[in-house]
This record gives sequence, C-alpha cells and structure tokens, in this order.
Amino acid sequence: MSVQTSSRLSIENAPLLKTKIPGPKSKEFLDIQDTLETSSRSYTSFFRFAIDYGKGSTVVDMDGNVFIDWFGGVSVLNLGHGHPAVMNALKSQVEKITHITEVPTEARIKYLKTLNSVLPGKMKNNSKVHMTVTGADACEAAVSLARYNSKKPTIIAFSGSYHGIAGGIVGATSNYHYRDYAGFSSQNYVYAPYPYPYRFSSKTKPEDISKEVVERIVEMIRDPYSGVPPVGGIIVEPVQGEGGYIVPPDDFLPMLRETCDEHSIPLIIDEVQSGIGRTGKLWASEYQNVTPDIMCISKSIGGGIPISSIVYRKDFDQIPKAFHLGTYRGNPLGMAAGAAILDVVKDEQFLERVRSKGRYLLKRFQEIQDNSSIIGDVRGRGFMVANEIVTNKQDKTPGTELAGKIRESLFNKGLLMHTCGHYGNAMRFMAPLTIEDDLLDTGISLFQEAIKETEVKS
Ligand SMILES: Cc1ncc(COP(=O)(O)O)c(C=O)c1O
Repeated sequence: MSVQTSSRLSIENAPLLKTKIPGPKSKEFLDIQDTLETSSRSYTSFFRFAIDYGKGSTVVDMDGNVFIDWFGGVSVLNLGHGHPAVMNALKSQVEKITHITEVPTEARIKYLKTLNSVLPGKMKNNSKVHMTVTGADACEAAVSLARYNSKKPTIIAFSGSYHGIAGGIVGATSNYHYRDYAGFSSQNYVYAPYPYPYRFSSKTKPEDISKEVVERIVEMIRDPYSGVPPVGGIIVEPVQGEGGYIVPPDDFLPMLRETCDEHSIPLIIDEVQSGIGRTGKLWASEYQNVTPDIMCISKSIGGGIPISSIVYRKDFDQIPKAFHLGTYRGNPLGMAAGAAILDVVKDEQFLERVRSKGRYLLKRFQEIQDNSSIIGDVRGRGFMVANEIVTNKQDKTPGTELAGKIRESLFNKGLLMHTCGHYGNAMRFMAPLTIEDDLLDTGISLFQEAIKETEVKS
C-alpha cells in the first residue's frame, strides 16, 4: 500500500547474518557492559548483541549483522528507526533549544495544538495537557489528578495491568504539601479481574465476561462492606500490554464508562502502549467511542526521546500550582518529535494499513496455530498481536520456558521478538507501524520455523 512503500525505510533483504551471534565486536561491548553496568539488566540476557544503528524496521549490530525489528524498543518506535519526519523535527529543534522547563517554545505550542486536535471523542480540542517524562510518571500524575478531583482515596486497577514502576519517593521529599495528592500507599489500590477471554472462568459465557467484571467493580464501589475504601478512580488499558496483548470484549470499555459516570468516578485510560496508532486507530479507545476523563500517553509519542503527557477534561483543572513536578517534563526534542509523529500517524490511510495488515497478521498466525501443539491463543488488534504459548492446548498450561526458547531461536535467526503476559508466555508482535510487507512475511516464516523447531525439541 502506498503509505509505506513510497520510500523504503528498512534495509533490504533482512535478516542478514554474517557472524555467529553475538559477533566479536558485540561480545566485546557486552563484556564491558557486564563489568560496568548493573546486573539487574534483563533485555541483554536474551538479546545478546550490541547495536550500531537502526533503519526503519531493521537494526544493525556492531558486527554488521542485520536484524528485523519486531520489538521497537518495547513499542516505542511506531514510526521505526530514523523516520525522516522525526529526524527532521529533531534536527531543527536541536539547533534551537534542548531544555527549558515549562516556558513556551514553538515546539511546545505545536505539540499542545497538534495533540489537542487528535484526541479521542469529546476530548478533542477540549482538554488540558500536563507534561510528564515517562509512562509511569504520566500514570502517577493521572491517579493523583483523579484522586484530587474525586476526593476519594482508592484506585481500581486490573489483573495483568502494567502502569510502570515509580512512586514512593515523594515520601522522602520534605514538603508534606506534595504528599497530599502525590504518592500514596499500595493499600490504596485494589484489583478487578481484566476480561481476558482465553483464561476467564469457563463457567462464564464469552458474551457475559464484561458484565461479570463490571458487576464485581460495582460491588466494590457500592457495598460498604466490600472492604474497599471509597473509589476515586479506575485505571485501565484499553488493550492490555505487558499483561499479554489482551483484547477485552467490545462491550467492556463502554460498560466501564457507564459505571464511572453513574458513580462520578474518573476513568483513566492508559494509552501508553496502545496509543499512537498501535491498534490501527490513533487511540485504542476509539474502537468503542469511549472518551476517557484522563488519558496517559508516552512511548511512541517521543519517537525515542523520553516524553509523556496526560490529557484531561478541562473541569479537572482546578488544581494547585506545582501539582505534579519533574525537572525534565516536556522536553523540547520530545515535543518536536511528538507533533511530527502525530502528523504522520493521524493519516487515515496510514491507520487503515495498520488495521488491514493487523488482520493479515492474525490470519497468518492463526494458520500457524492450526498446525501447532503449543500456540494456545492468537489475539490482537492492529499491530498489537500475541501468540500465547502453552505446553498443552487442552489445559492451557503456560509455556513460559518454551516462549523463552522461541525468542532465543528467533534472535539467532535475525528476528527480534519479545514476550509478555501473566506468565511471560505470550510472543508479542510490536513492530514499527511502517514495517515493509516483505519484513512481515519473512518474519512470519521465521516465526513458523522457530515454532516447529521448538515443538520438536519439547
Ligand atoms: C500501558 C503502560 N503504561 C505505563 C507503562 C510505563 O511506562 P514507562 O516504562 O515509560 O515508565 C508501560 C510500560 O510498558 C505500559 O505498557
């Protein structure tokens, strides 16, 4: 389709492996890293190489080996490596200014206007933006804002959720004023089951899953003996990311929206991973026409520059000065990239390709599943697709170790593909949205080979 083939971004004929992996140069870098950097790293235990550069949906290691990138730096590179629109925006911004906190710049104004013009539903051109730095930082700001507005302490999250690793440090900050709304104890979170069709109780009919989940939530809110203190916000991923690329039934978000409205509870939709076109709409919540009260945005908005934001209803803006702080909020480079990225991704033709290629991917993965004893479930929306690996299709025993082996086998074949899921057993497709057709097909063939080889060995 025209949108992506107009000029090729990736290296031709990938993958192209010239050495054993890791090659000698990569090995040298990995050894130095092992000596000097924390041993708590995890990605370098399975992606054993050192990177020289990236181009589109390919990366080149220090030994000149070319890999297909279905990883995108954990879903950060929706436009791939070195997209011209992003590079041009960054280059012109870097000449101007690279940091100045909160003061308006051309990049900031463009980002604010562009973002507001593409927000979902009633948020469009009708929202306030608060700058943050990472996904976790945005989610922290979102729950603080929900609690501040609702004046209630408890946040409902979901099983399988991932909203980041942060929080707590405000407790060491001496001005107690900040602790009034930021930073609160983990006891202020409760969890409802996420509607995970593959692993939801078999006693529940598929069409009743959302109803059952929402009924439990309503019970938590209404029943004074539920054990849950008053609920001041619900935070949800419209398609769950780290939890396993789980697509909830279509009636789930609308039912959640209705429940929040009935009980005057702010609905926070976390689009950190599912946003910026990942599911084939700019925001995943647009599939159900649900408008959040607060929305979290990060990862692909900065094209690799750490930046995040929350956007929220204007009437939530009665908040004190310095409500959620952070020196690096709203980095000009990230905002310049962000406006350029939104301009590319909002294009309906671009998004339509993601949707149609997403359907194609599901079909191809389902064909592989039909002939496989270890792919229990294939699911996804747009370019957020997972194959859940099991050791036994009947009892759905999670194949965590098998998934690790598949990832390793793919890496050695020149394809970067990572896992996710409750049990780390879902192979997830999160390639750049700009990936060329041939790199999809080559990747699928490599995936099929890796599945077959793993089945034979297991
Ligand atoms: C949905 C979602 N929210 C929040 C986060 C946290 O983002 P960060 O790692 O930038 O803190 C992630 C990270 O994977 C995520 O997937």
